[in-house]
Amino acid sequence: MSTALPLGIDVGGSGIKGAPVDLDKGEFAQERVRIDTPTESTPEAVCEIIARIVEQFDEVHDGSPIGVTVPGVVQHGVVKTAANIDKSWINCEIEKLLEDRLQHDVVVVNDADAAGVAELAYGAAKGQDGLVIMTTLGTGIGTAVINRGVLVPNSELGHLEIDGVDAETVAASSIKTAEGLSYAEWAPRLQRYYRHLEDLMWPDLIVVGGGVSKKSDKFLPLLDLRTPIVPAVLRNAAGIIGAAVLANGHQQEHGRHTS
Ligand code: BGC
Repeated sequence: MSTALPLGIDVGGSGIKGAPVDLDKGEFAQERVRIDTPTESTPEAVCEIIARIVEQFDEVHDGSPIGVTVPGVVQHGVVKTAANIDKSWINCEIEKLLEDRLQHDVVVVNDADAAGVAELAYGAAKGQDGLVIMTTLGTGIGTAVINRGVLVPNSELGHLEIDGVDAETVAASSIKTAEGLSYAEWAPRLQRYYRHLEDLMWPDLIVVGGGVSKKSDKFLPLLDLRTPIVPAVLRNAAGIIGAAVLANGHQQEHGRHTS
């Protein structure tokens, strides 16, 4: 009998991606499947895409827990904020909606929280026993706060108000692109953000993820911080892997779906 591998699904602005995850290795157990995010990306439309992705995998059995990331606060299975996604997500009982549709145990988590969990388990923060802050630089700024291996969910430190404005509206990598900033022009904004973050939180390590982290050699050396700051290593696999880790942990704690 084969074991029920957890499946991770990452819901992003342009694509919805999923794969079963081998938790011993921290790797995809089968090749990732990606489907474009629908133009009208309501929870119902996204649920249908997720169902299509789940059907693709023969490694996914009835007992497989499914972890799903969304780019907003998720409290007890309910989406609470939608800074950069369709506003119809707010107050959506997404976990219940997905469990009814998929007939699997489902855990829905914030995207940055999932990425942080994956980097701690298998990536740039592996073995770090202190306070780790993962930041994802993308359309917005996502954060995960993990202390001694325990995630404090929904930290939302990308929305810190700095100089009277929401930090992500100044320092996210989408702003770098929108304003055509060079790395040298963007770096002072990151410096202001990360210095503020370290002054408030005193982390032992900051991990920088998001697509732009591929180019971290162009901006991390320009920052002057007391906290070690390193690029993420799992790249765009982090959301899927972290979601699978969290779904598996949740199933072990709460027992298996029986319907
Ligand atoms: C949202 C966060 C999310 C981040 C990255 C922010 O605008 O508020 O919940 O983690 O974007 O997607």
